[in-house]
Amino acid sequence: MEREEEEEDIVCLDPSFFMNNDYQLTTFTFGSHEIELFCLQSASTDFDLTGQLVWPGALLMNNYLSQHAHLLQGCSIIELGSGVGITGILCSKFCHKVVLTDHNEEVLKILKKNIELHASPESLGNSAELAAEKLEWGNSDQITQVMDKHSGGFDLILGADICFQQSSVPLLFKTAERLLQVRGRGKCKFILAYVSRARSMDTLILDEASRHGMRMIEVDGTRSVVGNLQGVIYEITLN
Ligand SMILES: C[S@@+](CC[C@H](N)C(=O)[O-])C[C@H]1O[C@@H](n2cnc3c(N)ncnc32)[C@H](O)[C@@H]1O
Repeated sequence: MEREEEEEDIVCLDPSFFMNNDYQLTTFTFGSHEIELFCLQSASTDFDLTGQLVWPGALLMNNYLSQHAHLLQGCSIIELGSGVGITGILCSKFCHKVVLTDHNEEVLKILKKNIELHASPESLGNSAELAAEKLEWGNSDQITQVMDKHSGGFDLILGADICFQQSSVPLLFKTAERLLQVRGRGKCKFILAYVSRARSMDTLILDEASRHGMRMIEVDGTRSVVGNLQGVIYEITLN
């Protein structure tokens, strides 16, 4: 009898009830480049679903890249924590190959949809090979799989607004270090569009870079206000 009462108390909630998939086709402009893609307009309830919308760091990164498109010309690129893919998709207008990555399955679904939108023949001006891969920072098997699949390595690693959770930052830098090591010193750069939300994070990223034998240099003229916060572009290389 008691057990029956306990069972009656269990509330069954369908996880899809908490999932917002109401993506809107949205246009973003970076210099002379317009990008249309599907994204949410505001955050969902789940902290892990940050990738469903475009973050201020992506705007900082894309404005910087659109003004320095020569950095991308003919390059192969891997992006970490791509979210809906706005940075990688902009890069595909200039690059030879772009691999967009994320760890969240829901985010990977919308990322793939946006890649399809831009990889189609009607999408003019995209000549790059675009691919999405699952990559969770610090997951050795997944990093090895991505590195085996793209064995030549990458010219650039990109990350926009991906330093927001203290516990994942050491894993992010560990992942970046492995990717930088494929080509070796001086042959691959990690460009990070950083948005400062906590002093402790400002120092943590510098400490992690140094702990992983990396040099982190603030790119002149990139410190600016994005969405009411301080943002800056860092160039990170192996020492
Ligand atoms: C704040 S969002 C930024 C998304 C996009 N770069 C932008 O600026 O619009 C952070 C992204 O990193 C991804 N992410 C968070 N932790 C991760 C982890 N441990 N491994 C891989 N991706 C992660 C999230 O799924 C999300 O897409």
